[in-house]
Amino acid sequence: MASRYHEVYESWKQDPESFWAKAAEKIDWSKPADKVFDPDAGAYGRWFAGAMCNTCYNCVDRHVERGRGDQAAMIYDSPITGSQKTYTYSELLDEVQTLGAVLQGHGVEKGDRVIVYMPMIPEAAIAMLACARIGAIHSVVFGGFAAAELATRIDDAKPKFVLTASCGIEPGRVVEYKPLLDEAISLSKSKPDGVLLCQREQANASMIEGRDLDWDEEMASARSEGRKADCVDVAATDPLYILYTSGTTGIPKGVVRDNGGHMVALHWSMKNIYDVEPGEVYWAASDVGWVVGHSYIVYAPLLHGNTTIIFEGKPIGTPDAGVFWRVISEHKVAAMFTAPTAFRAIKKEDPEGKLIKDYDLSNFRTLFLAGERADPDTIQWAEKQLEVPVYDHWWQTETGWTIAGNPVGLGALPVKYGSPTVAMPGYDIKILDDQCNEVPTGETGAISVKLPLPPSCLPTLWQNDERFKESYLQDFPGYYMTSDAGFVDEDGYVYVMARTDDIINVAGHRLSTGGMEEVIATHPDVAECAVIGMADKLKGQIPAGFIVLNSGVDREMGDIESEVVKLVREKIGPVAAFKLAMAVPRLPKTRSGKILRGTMRKIADGEEFKMPATIDDPVILDEITDVLKGRGYPA
Ligand code: COA
Ligand code: AMP
Repeated sequence: MASRYHEVYESWKQDPESFWAKAAEKIDWSKPADKVFDPDAGAYGRWFAGAMCNTCYNCVDRHVERGRGDQAAMIYDSPITGSQKTYTYSELLDEVQTLGAVLQGHGVEKGDRVIVYMPMIPEAAIAMLACARIGAIHSVVFGGFAAAELATRIDDAKPKFVLTASCGIEPGRVVEYKPLLDEAISLSKSKPDGVLLCQREQANASMIEGRDLDWDEEMASARSEGRKADCVDVAATDPLYILYTSGTTGIPKGVVRDNGGHMVALHWSMKNIYDVEPGEVYWAASDVGWVVGHSYIVYAPLLHGNTTIIFEGKPIGTPDAGVFWRVISEHKVAAMFTAPTAFRAIKKEDPEGKLIKDYDLSNFRTLFLAGERADPDTIQWAEKQLEVPVYDHWWQTETGWTIAGNPVGLGALPVKYGSPTVAMPGYDIKILDDQCNEVPTGETGAISVKLPLPPSCLPTLWQNDERFKESYLQDFPGYYMTSDAGFVDEDGYVYVMARTDDIINVAGHRLSTGGMEEVIATHPDVAECAVIGMADKLKGQIPAGFIVLNSGVDREMGDIESEVVKLVREKIGPVAAFKLAMAVPRLPKTRSGKILRGTMRKIADGEEFKMPATIDDPVILDEITDVLKGRGYPA
């Protein structure tokens, strides 16, 4: 079918407010908006100002009221523990009503923050929805972060309550969450009133008297007393959640998501981008700790009346590289969303796709990839093996949904490998030079979005309007700076090529090299350091640290390097995948003292580079080259 994309995009451009007002008809509001868009509110305007609503009601209650009560809302499939459980919409409603009542019973009210530090178990999604139900603002922290990272988030969000589980499970090891949480709370200045803990059989967490509560006991007592929480009306512009993401310093940015705009954009995306109908099974193989998990494991599929899958496993090793196909076939998945790195891992284990042949994938229609640039090899491999279209799409924690993608529901556009396709309605993408002028078609520059941003995008950073403006709005007045560089071709296809800041993308996880440098600099023997992201065949990028030791340090270099690796794992977490620290005599710098990280990265990746005109001492680049060669790089 011919794509309606151009017509729809044009209709948005002609009249954005009518476009989003129409999309908003799919949401149940307890009071409609006074203004679809209020340009005078917030940093760049606010969507659905004056409207009142509840996100949990739209995700759960209304589907039960309208006959979807017996449909599966959530399927928990955990190959890592060998268990499965399905929740119908009615059962999910009972869970969120009860958990909402438990939280209210302990004094959690509208506007209070609740940290959710949980593995991929159904209780994590139930926790998010229960918070939404009572108007509390959740902040989910990914399980692969260490105590210090969790403490930073606790100090910024100041949660009244923390919801957690005794452990997460990684291949070959049980990660006990409770000691990490206890350490984080002891490190933070802000102390939550209570901790609600879900005991899992793989680890029994010890409880602190007077603070810690047992999930099952609390739920049972609320049930026996018949306590259920009603949906609390919130303003469309009230925060639904805060999700911390890497910024250019060690202090993460608290991305705020509102209730109204988020629901409208996410609901629109389910049919128009992912082309699924209510009732179909939609699977995002990610983690609730990331934005993909928030938007496409929890909120969007449920808003749209789909069945979502909570998958606790890995693409390989749980038990093998056929697990994705098993899940697709067993649960009749229509559309799947994951990161390219997962497919690279599967391709490495099963290059000929032999395991696919064991499964009936006849219900499967489309694969969507995001989180990092989808390399053409991976896309083509997946297309060939799965015999379905594979689409890359580009978005950020800040937006919560696609900036550029292929809107399959409007009729897919031809794929150009290496491009996530075109701007979605809501996004007026411009490629700018340093002076904020548009560059000619095909030329690379800073990918920017003309303000206002569409619904769902962050209105600000948590209690930090100044940092929001400085980080995103200041460099290019009138635009949102994505911090991605790239170009747009003559057909309007967007190409996202690199970050313009110190963020790297490791296995689809966004990490700050600046944050790692801050940690490494605390090692007593380190005088200075630089962390770069080196190309990696599996993870896309991996971090590499270069350290200059204090003069007079005469310990074994290998020992210091191992300590630095351990330090990053302890302070940031295993998710940083920081395994390579190299002592070097000096770091290459410009005459004004700026470390030439870009040049170091090119050397590590074996790319050609121009000698920077401002380099202080070119010999240092030879020293770096020699150290890298000694470690087998470029690979
Ligand atoms: N809790 C605790 N530790 C965790 C964790 C969690 N939730 N998630 C990951 N880790 C640990 C891993 O065990 C690993 O530890 P190790 O250094 O002791 O081996 C480390 O963090 C790095 O994890 P990861 O980068 O995920 O590497 P991996 O080798 O375990 O797995 C892939 C590689 C490709 C299979 C995996 O990264 C993957 O499935 N990626 C999908 C990406 C994704 O979902 N992205 C979200 C955006 S769509
Ligand atoms: P996150 O906020 O963790 O989702 O990471 C967002 C960043 O990941 C973007 O700014 C990009 O740098 C990168 N990214 C995500 N999806 C894509 C994609 N499809 N193509 C290229 N880069 C991507």
